[in-house]
Amino acid sequence: MSSRQLSTPSLPKQKPASVSKPSQSPALSTAAGTVLYTDTVPIDAKEKIMDSVYCKVADKYDSVTDVMSFYMNKVWKQWFVERMKPIPGEKLLDVAGGTCEIAKRYLTYQDEVNGDSTSTVHVVDFNKDMLRVGQHRLADTQWIKDNRVTFAQGNAEDLVDIADNSMDAYSISAGMHNLPHPEKAVQEAYRVLKPGGRFACLEYGNVDVPIFGHIIRWYWDNMLPAIGGWLANDRPSYERLARSVRSFPHQKQFSQAIRRAGFHLPGKGYELYQCGMMVVYIATKPLNA
Ligand SMILES: C[S@@+](CC[C@H](N)C(=O)[O-])C[C@H]1O[C@@H](n2cnc3c(N)ncnc32)[C@H](O)[C@@H]1O
Repeated sequence: MSSRQLSTPSLPKQKPASVSKPSQSPALSTAAGTVLYTDTVPIDAKEKIMDSVYCKVADKYDSVTDVMSFYMNKVWKQWFVERMKPIPGEKLLDVAGGTCEIAKRYLTYQDEVNGDSTSTVHVVDFNKDMLRVGQHRLADTQWIKDNRVTFAQGNAEDLVDIADNSMDAYSISAGMHNLPHPEKAVQEAYRVLKPGGRFACLEYGNVDVPIFGHIIRWYWDNMLPAIGGWLANDRPSYERLARSVRSFPHQKQFSQAIRRAGFHLPGKGYELYQCGMMVVYIATKPLNA
């Protein structure tokens, strides 16, 4: 197993919900380079804290996410998979794959749209409970029987079991905001992709539209913890998730990190869903890499 065994620390006290961050968070500059980290928990503690959160929410994760997004998360993920433009026969690495929503939609697309039954998905996630829910969800499918989907516990920032230049495509959906060093995960994606391989990231974004942006930020700070408390009986975990999402860098900054890793990212570098509630980044590893 490529990830370390993790203990389950208690959640640190969150900042009051009314404390909001600027819509464009600053990146920190250190001797090691630009670090995309502005979360309120210490950077060294974030990995364990987020793992602890996902252990607690795994069983109800999908149903709570459906309610708090008004079922839009399903639409966003479907758009994302279509935007990835799946290619018959390719090998996809789905990182932070959680409950396998992306793997399921991707393989369905390959079957139904491309008429392809040879493409594969390797799902990697840090959290054993999220993986367990994902494995259970796909357990009785033909994809498992045909060995088209495989699972491993592992860290997006250090994909030690994945060889260099071995994957045709890489996806990560709502995964980057959990990471202490998202820029490391982007570098790992670059390493494992073949030249010409596609990097696809779906992540929560910053809504820059004035009034709508305020409403969304208020919703994240107040309603998300309330709904998590109500449906999952776990307000602290959903406060932590909301804080993690809210501290993720602005799309303009994150697209720069993707370019810094060596990817070709066309145009302005990102596409907005619902004015930036979600953001899609589709990049390519250059053929001459
Ligand atoms: C919000 S869920 C998203 C799950 C899924 N990709 C989706 O779109 O429904 C985030 C996932 O990231 C995983 N995760 C958090 N930190 C990780 C890390 N360092 N490496 C790999 N996965 C991680 C969590 O365990 C969780 O399953």
